[in-house]
Amino acid sequence: MVARATIKHCQAIGDDVSAFTRQELDISNGEQVFEVFAREKPDAVINCAAYTNVDGAETNQDLCFAANAVGVENLALASKKYESAFVTISTDYVFDGAKEEFYTQRDTPNPQSVYGKSKLEGEIRARNAYARSIIVRSGWIFGDDGTNFLSVMHELLADRKQIKAIYDAYGTPTFAEDLATRLRELAELDMPCIFHVTNSGSGASYEEFARKVCEIKGFDKNLLDSVSNNTLKRPAPRPKNSRLACLFSQKFGLSPLPNWEKALEVFLKVKRQK
Ligand SMILES: NC(=O)c1ccc[n+]([C@@H]2O[C@H](COP(=O)([O-])OP(=O)(O)OC[C@H]3O[C@@H](n4cnc5c(N)ncnc54)[C@H](OP(=O)(O)O)[C@@H]3O)[C@@H](O)[C@H]2O)c1
Repeated sequence: MVARATIKHCQAIGDDVSAFTRQELDISNGEQVFEVFAREKPDAVINCAAYTNVDGAETNQDLCFAANAVGVENLALASKKYESAFVTISTDYVFDGAKEEFYTQRDTPNPQSVYGKSKLEGEIRARNAYARSIIVRSGWIFGDDGTNFLSVMHELLADRKQIKAIYDAYGTPTFAEDLATRLRELAELDMPCIFHVTNSGSGASYEEFARKVCEIKGFDKNLLDSVSNNTLKRPAPRPKNSRLACLFSQKFGLSPLPNWEKALEVFLKVKRQK
């Protein structure tokens, strides 16, 4: 999802983009990573690849760590060798969710799931391997080609499917296209830092997000079953609150990304025209 949005944005502004599927470049394979870098000699690398199946990670730890920790380290090492700017995406799931306010870079990560632990390990390895690494924590991402709940719920609602909407888990929704724009800006800014990147606003619960989808598209809100996070027995624990705020972006002259509700309108409008 984020990779496709990033490719589209970078091509639109005239970058010479090389993009790879997992089959073309398995980031957990160090030899393959160095081969591709030797051929491409990139000025900048934006890593959107990851093992993203949060529940699957609980039983596929090796695969998850191979991509999210070793894979990120491989890219950081190769970026160091070829002096490329290096941006890699991390997650709000590095936090445990116990805090009620927004999480900033002052908060100590304490991931609860295998996925969250693998992403934190990726952050650490990136910075140890290449001090120039730029780490972008984001969360609750929605967009074209997304298969997660936030990206597909409008299709379920359009089909009049009844959906469970959690009222007591909070995050900061982020439109993949806005994130892509910021990833590109950060590659150019080249400041070795951990950034928190989300759309603006005070965040939302899944239920609030779903209600907004209904409002924008005119769907029946009775299709939403309001449920507690605890009632969904999913293999991986999720943070109850993982809203992110950034201490640095504005200090570095970056303007806030649009409000998530406006971003959702843009996403759903594009969908309507298809
Ligand atoms: N979606 C969210 O809400 C969310 C929230 C916070 C952070 N993030 C982070 O944002 C980034 C982008 O997420 P996304 O939602 O765009 O993910 P996505 O749609 O699931 O795409 C991930 C891509 O990575 C590829 N991949 C997996 N293992 C790989 C490997 N070893 N080598 C090369 N490619 C590999 C996958 O290929 P296959 O499909 O072939 O396996 C897939 O194309 C990830 O770092 C993710 O952890 C996402």
